[in-house]
Amino acid sequence: MTEKKAFSSLEYLFKPRSVAIIGASNNSSKIGFKVVDNIIASGYKGNIYPINPKGGELLGLKVFKSIEDVDDNIDLATICIPADYVLEGIQSCAVKNTKFLSIITSGFSEIGKLKEEEEIVNYAHQHGMRVLGPNIFGIFSAKCPINATFGNKYIEQGSVAIVTQSGALGIAMIGKTDTEGIGLSAIVSVGNKSDLDEADLIEYLVEDEETKVIVLYIEGLKEGEKLVKVLRNVTRRKPVIIIKSGRSKRGAMAAASHTGSLAGADNVFEDVISRQVGGLRALSVQEALNWAKFIAVQKELPKGENAVIVTNGGGIGVLATDACESYNVSLYDNREVLKTIFDPVTPSFGSTKNPVDITGQASSDFYEKAIQAAIDSPDIHSIICLGCETGIFNASELNTVVQNKYLNIFPKKPLVFSFFGGADFETGLFTLKGKGVPIYSDVYEAVSCLGAYYKHYRNMIYAEDHDIGHKEPIIDIEEIQVVIDEVRKDNRHFLLVPEAMRVMEAAGIPIPKSFVCKDLKETIYYAEEIIGYPVVLKIVSKDIIHKSDAGGVALNLENRNELIDAYEAIFNSAYKFKPDAKITGVEIVKMIKKKDAVETIIGARVDNTFGPTVMFGLGGIYVEVLKDVAFRAVPLTRSEASNMIKQIRSYPLLLGVRGEDPKDIDGCVEVILRLAKIIQLCSDISDIEINPVLAFAQNKGVLAIDTRILLKSQSSEVK
Ligand code: COA
Repeated sequence: MTEKKAFSSLEYLFKPRSVAIIGASNNSSKIGFKVVDNIIASGYKGNIYPINPKGGELLGLKVFKSIEDVDDNIDLATICIPADYVLEGIQSCAVKNTKFLSIITSGFSEIGKLKEEEEIVNYAHQHGMRVLGPNIFGIFSAKCPINATFGNKYIEQGSVAIVTQSGALGIAMIGKTDTEGIGLSAIVSVGNKSDLDEADLIEYLVEDEETKVIVLYIEGLKEGEKLVKVLRNVTRRKPVIIIKSGRSKRGAMAAASHTGSLAGADNVFEDVISRQVGGLRALSVQEALNWAKFIAVQKELPKGENAVIVTNGGGIGVLATDACESYNVSLYDNREVLKTIFDPVTPSFGSTKNPVDITGQASSDFYEKAIQAAIDSPDIHSIICLGCETGIFNASELNTVVQNKYLNIFPKKPLVFSFFGGADFETGLFTLKGKGVPIYSDVYEAVSCLGAYYKHYRNMIYAEDHDIGHKEPIIDIEEIQVVIDEVRKDNRHFLLVPEAMRVMEAAGIPIPKSFVCKDLKETIYYAEEIIGYPVVLKIVSKDIIHKSDAGGVALNLENRNELIDAYEAIFNSAYKFKPDAKITGVEIVKMIKKKDAVETIIGARVDNTFGPTVMFGLGGIYVEVLKDVAFRAVPLTRSEASNMIKQIRSYPLLLGVRGEDPKDIDGCVEVILRLAKIIQLCSDISDIEINPVLAFAQNKGVLAIDTRILLKSQSSEVK
């Protein structure tokens, strides 16, 4: 067997020295023609080798009958021949030490032909080639420049890089970015992601000096864990804007059938990608492009979070204030300082409070002075400038000011515009947009840009919060494995209560003291000598999983008589429920008073997309209805666990309402981290759920009351 060749740096994909087009055609309606035409038009300086068995000439270039006739090594081969011939085509590429294959051809895993796709990737990897696609529109890289796509011929160069799973949407984004005045450093289509995926590409783009902002369009993730790991490092260096389709159930189904990959559950995606590792998640392509444009023109990070609104209308100012709350933009509140800054530039009947209202009478001159005052003040860090059409207001004059000033002086601080009005305003807006000014007709659009930028700012400023390597909890993994081995030997996938309790103890998670008694005498002994009334009895049988349904639980037993009656009753009920049940005994446990505690739910499971994850939420019996839960990927830091707790709507309950004591949030953090450790280290476990975990008053601790642990089935172990 030949020795496997090493892969080349992605630099050769973005800056190839030579490119072959397999399936180059003289027929101008074919993709093989368009790609060659685009490469030439982009001013590519490397060697271009069109390949077609007919030979001849194409757009002034010699056409080679076979790639083997080319006297050169190939950095990038673009494949545009029908699916049935692709394997043969890439076999010929291997002869020329090809480094990257950009397979435009459709007809692979997206229509169920996974085996054929895998065959191509295996062959490519054996010969040191990496695969982009298949089912893509190609790659544009400004660095070279090279436009090896069959999309638009001319692509404006700039500092935004787009990585897209959808080809059609990607091509449309090229046109849209052009009309929006957004220049691209690269646009890459990843299609079926048979080999290279978005994580590989952003790892390269974060190092690319030309790229200031990265935009990802994702339909489904194949390797969520890999993306999380990469984003964790990338988002603290460059903003990564993410559009993820398939939020709704129907959307997820459409995404799955479209790309041949499964879209992960959206709430897990949102929590992990957006809240845990700092992706800037946009709701629509338009929103993503708005943010990209705004962030790309910023010169340096703001010095702080004090934003100010300058407006000529009260109504639009209030709308913008609402938008600031929605997008987490904090408005500067020091009235005295605001008065000092804006008094000299605001009419006496205006307002220097934030929003600063320069009134409907304001001309462009007023705007210029107010914006300049905000820029000159060290107390103000960002500006939202709003304009409503009025009889007095000359839109074209203001446009000139914005154009002259914004593009030169203003960008020292983040400054976003929203102008709302009729034809004059719309025309001016369109012109300014085209010149690269972040200006929008809707205030929410404008404010959302600043919100996204501040999220990126926080990613940068609080970067150390993402650091793994904090003091990790220590758990007795060997003891947990002993329990699991016993369960496996018994051919079970679920743990019995005493087994789950042993796991909790080995993980250092506090549980109420409990004992399994084999007869009534022993039960009375534990109730009176060890635990003390009131107690709870639960039937222990591997044949009865849902103990309550079988009448196998008795609560709040206050004395010996109640204990004896309950003991007999739960045995009778259990046998009635399942006459052939093998009953090991009864579990006796202290009756815990839940009154002073908040019931939380803490879980850990292996997610299909993100691998090991943890969950925290409001627990008890309403968890299914309220769904007040948050998720994070494992591993996670202490501060990520604590942010997860703060995220749930019921968080105020943990802080203490109506004079109650705050609850032991640190205790909850500790349980989350310990469950994370179990699910990370015990590859046999698929699900752990503790409901409830009682959170008592601060420093009074937490107690895991009911724990359910499931093991992976043999089939899911082979992942
Ligand atoms: N090496 C070089 N050239 C070859 C070849 C080979 N092994 N086999 C065939 N060719 C030539 C053909 O002769 C033809 O040239 P011609 O026009 O001179 O006859 C050219 O390559 C293209 O082959 P053809 O059979 O005409 O295919 P096509 O152009 O109709 O379609 C694809 C090819 C790849 C475009 C098509 O199969 C496809 O997948 N289309 C969908 C692409 C897509 O949408 N991708 C996703 C975008 S987001």
